[in-house]
Amino acid sequence: MLSLHKNPKGLEQKSLEIAGELSSIPPGEPVLVVCHLDADGITSGSIIASALLRSGVAPHIRVVKQLDEAAIAEILPIKAKYVIFTDMGSGQRQLLERFGSAERRIFIIDHHQPPPKEGDGAGAVGSILELNPHFFGFDGSNEISASGTAFLVAKKMSSENASLAPLAIVGALGDMQDKGDRGSLVGLNASIAEDAQRSGLIAISKGLKLYGFESRPLVKSMEYTLNPYLPGLSGDEGACFKFLKSAGVEPRKQDGSWRSISDLSNDEIRQVTSALIKYLISQGLSSQEAESVVGVLYTIKSEAADSPLRDAREYASSVNACGRLGKYGLGVALCLGDRAGALTELRELISEYRKKISGYLRWIENNPSSLRVMNSVQVILAGSNIDDRMIGTIISIAFSMKPFTRSRPIFGLSNAEGVVKVSARGTPDLVRRGLNLGSAIREASEQVGGTGGGHNIAAGGQIPVGKEEAFISIVDGIVAKMIGGVKL
Ligand code: C5P
Ligand code: C5P
Repeated sequence: MLSLHKNPKGLEQKSLEIAGELSSIPPGEPVLVVCHLDADGITSGSIIASALLRSGVAPHIRVVKQLDEAAIAEILPIKAKYVIFTDMGSGQRQLLERFGSAERRIFIIDHHQPPPKEGDGAGAVGSILELNPHFFGFDGSNEISASGTAFLVAKKMSSENASLAPLAIVGALGDMQDKGDRGSLVGLNASIAEDAQRSGLIAISKGLKLYGFESRPLVKSMEYTLNPYLPGLSGDEGACFKFLKSAGVEPRKQDGSWRSISDLSNDEIRQVTSALIKYLISQGLSSQEAESVVGVLYTIKSEAADSPLRDAREYASSVNACGRLGKYGLGVALCLGDRAGALTELRELISEYRKKISGYLRWIENNPSSLRVMNSVQVILAGSNIDDRMIGTIISIAFSMKPFTRSRPIFGLSNAEGVVKVSARGTPDLVRRGLNLGSAIREASEQVGGTGGGHNIAAGGQIPVGKEEAFISIVDGIVAKMIGGVKL
């Protein structure tokens, strides 16, 4: 049963129980870690893998797009006595029960809302040992991510694993859990970040939340910023250059090279900040959204000053790019500490990722007939025009672009192999009004013969081809009941 009261002792106890079993795996025993492909998935899998490596066990890591029967059928033949699912599994527990046996011990380390009435989660049911903060009254959609949950286990395996805290922060930021004041982490995430700051692993500061603010020229960080989307500036270097000039800040040094934030005086930083906020308000953003360009920054101190991994948000976006472009090995290598060849490969991949995103955003702009504004939801029917691995990322960005509004949740539908992938995103405000996308998608997709789930604020699923219209009309009705129709 889900717990409404916070039970930190219970969470600690369960972490300890799992840590105890993982620590007692004999060296040489085949172990498989299966994780989701996004930043939180890859960081959570890497945290567990690092902790196992430290205890003398070399796990095999498998990154998967989703955990369905097909993915399980692929994993099944892999010989492993221990299988650890991270950032997935709570929603598929029934499916996984069939997979466990006397020869196979299964662990789930997840933070998604578990489906109603499925085991009590707080103890081992069948052959599965599951850790999910929801069972102990902690909200896995904003208080702790899968990587944070994995970190709790890793720390119980060895105090030396406290060094993995930056990865837990990267995972939480990748899952956009920075919903506290000024884009700060809250709850258990905040405790992990504060501990990591005290031990000198990260720095927490306030500043301009532009992409790669430390490692890139100012003009580039502005051009590369997609969260929040800067209308007229994101993706347009020329426009960013002109914007800085008109704000009275010279984008170049005297020798012609670009200036970065560290080259600006405090007055100049203030000038850029206030010009940017004013500009965003003039573009129709609410003052709260516009001011979100200033916020809490998390810097990983051991990363080089010019590295895309120094700013924890940029790190998250980098690992996400690896996952979304299918470069799973690269994502894992980075999280396990490879900083040689992996960094060079990453820089090329980031540029490819950005080009893909721009192309998809252009497609949305040029195809208004594929956009649907319903009573309570808005939908992008992407067909085969947007990669199903990227649709979640694209709707997150498109959510703050015209013609979409943040007053209703956004859905994206994209063709995958033989099915249609569904992704949905909401806002904290909509969640406060009663939105629960995880249960809305689960219910609507089940009604059309599909599956789905996730968090209240972000969820996904798969439905059969040809059921798109039925699905969006059902989900529109479900969301209407949750938040009411949207008054325009
Ligand atoms: O599988 P998982 O839980 O890791 O993915 C969560 C997804 O939800 C991420 O892609 C993240 O970007 C999105 N999200 C969001 N807004 C939030 C929380 C999560 O868009 N407030
Ligand atoms: O795929 P996408 O990024 O849209 O997923 C949003 C959230 O929904 C993620 O947390 C993901 O793990 C979850 N999800 C799920 N079941 C699915 C598909 C996605 O729980 N079938």
